[in-house]
Amino acid sequence: MMRLRRLRQNPSIRSLFSETQVSLKQLVQPYFVVPGKGIKRETRPGYGLWQISADLIREEVAPLVRAGVGGVMLFGVPEHKRDDGKELEAQLEPLRQAITEVKTLAPELPLFADVCLCAYTTHGHCGLVKGNTIINDESVKVLAEMSVHFAKWGVDFVSPSDMMDGRVRAIRAALDEHGFTNTSILSYAIKMASAFYGPFREAAHSAPGFGDRKSYQMPANNRREARRELILDVDEGADALLIKPALSNLDLIRDAREATDVPLFAYQVSGEYATLRAAGDAGLIDFDRAVEETLVSIRRAGADVIVSYAARPMALR
Ligand code: PBG
Repeated sequence: MMRLRRLRQNPSIRSLFSETQVSLKQLVQPYFVVPGKGIKRETRPGYGLWQISADLIREEVAPLVRAGVGGVMLFGVPEHKRDDGKELEAQLEPLRQAITEVKTLAPELPLFADVCLCAYTTHGHCGLVKGNTIINDESVKVLAEMSVHFAKWGVDFVSPSDMMDGRVRAIRAALDEHGFTNTSILSYAIKMASAFYGPFREAAHSAPGFGDRKSYQMPANNRREARRELILDVDEGADALLIKPALSNLDLIRDAREATDVPLFAYQVSGEYATLRAAGDAGLIDFDRAVEETLVSIRRAGADVIVSYAARPMALR
């Protein structure tokens, strides 16, 4: 009789035949960079969303680097919000400092900076707004400008998460024009209009003030549209692609893996992580094991790299 249990007899055998690995070097840890000094707080204890001021980021990131984390992704929270895209450089000042600090600490650590307007505007939309409309092409100009600033300050990857049309091409052109031919673009290719971003918006102060994000983020219903998003971003010059939320889109991660050879990222977003934490806190599941299992499933679906709030606890374990 064929007995599949023969290969499950003990941890060493199971490890030898393990098809899918998750290691810290494939995980990227997000941080929310806030203005001010001496600030380091988790928006809710145990939920993994760390707000940090630039002066503390070096000592925060150092142990992660020592443990071998794959990278760090920075989201900016500005001192003042503005709706016209002017004073962008002043709004990005906390990020400029944080980028400089991290690059000084670890010049070779892959550093990602989020490109989006939702945290920078009073209305909280990912682009500029005219009346009740999120205007595309004017937004793209500001996003390209933001990307050039990040490149100038030394990030390795700019990561547009705004979902405006044509922004990858525009960002690539702007980077090249300013001589940043080696700065890469990790584009959020498939980003669903999702209920799972709640805790993030609390940490980034980026909840939309009116309406929702459905006129630019993707409907979760559409598999073919997701493929079009992917192919478009590859065409426009993306160096790597990101899909999110991860767990509710495992099929699309697999589709993407089969549709393109471009490196694939998946983002285990704040609400996915929070759901596991809340269930763990309620005594319903073992949080650590559940997180591990979700990360394995995301890798098995075909993601090369996972952006996850689990990177930090794994590094500090
Ligand atoms: C900004 C952005 C969001 C996330 C990443 N970039 C939130 C949103 O679109 O409202 C969500 C990540 C998370 O929930 O962890 N546009």
